Amino acid sequence: MPSYLRREDLQHLSLSKIGDYIIRGCAEQDLSEVILINWQTLPEHYSDSFYQNLLKEAPDSFLVAEYFGKVVGYIMCRIEYGFSTIKRFGMGKRGHIVSIGILDEHRKKGLGTEMIQIVMRALKEGGCGEIYLEVRISNKSAIDLYDRLEFKNTSVYDNYYKDGERAFMMSRRL
Ligand SMILES: CC(C)(COP(=O)(O)OP(=O)(O)OC[C@H]1O[C@@H](n2cnc3c(N)ncnc32)[C@H](O)[C@@H]1OP(=O)(O)O)[C@@H](O)C(=O)NCCC(=O)NCCS
Repeated sequence: MPSYLRREDLQHLSLSKIGDYIIRGCAEQDLSEVILINWQTLPEHYSDSFYQNLLKEAPDSFLVAEYFGKVVGYIMCRIEYGFSTIKRFGMGKRGHIVSIGILDEHRKKGLGTEMIQIVMRALKEGGCGEIYLEVRISNKSAIDLYDRLEFKNTSVYDNYYKDGERAFMMSRRL
């Protein structure tokens, strides 16, 4: 999305609506709110340039959820080339959900599900054959959501997080 767009222009670029929520592509002007939401929702944080690079590299799969002009959630992805997470010895282009967070008071309204579904379509249109993510094994609400979206548990990583917690890798075909 071009960075010269004004915030109010972005409303018209809505990809989906759920009640009073708008899901749309992230713009550079949104990144400060996205970073704040990341700090409020997750223990894994990134440098400002990391967000900027993801937005440049995979703008179609970097989305925000907006509620009356305020960003309340985001999802950001990376497009990678390499060994398949599903098919043995397979190689290809795949989407990686790097981070997704919805502010507590806006959860369980379907925003996470809708944003992942939009991202899956965008990644598929961009030529990705699969999508994957890592999730803390204790993160039941996220794992339930990915299960419902037909992600399968494909690996377990010991000591994946800084505090030593294990991660499930979950993947699905697109
Ligand atoms: C994981 C997370 C992104 C899910 O976002 P969300 O917007 O609440 O997701 P949804 O609303 O689409 O789905 C959550 C649940 O609410 C339910 N739900 C959706 N719309 C609903 C509605 N209108 N009424 C009641 N329940 C609803 C869904 O069925 C789902 O149920 P499930 O837990 O049985 O699967 C969110 O909990 C979050 O930000 N967590 C903290 C950060 C995090 O853990 N990120 C993932 C790291 S891997």
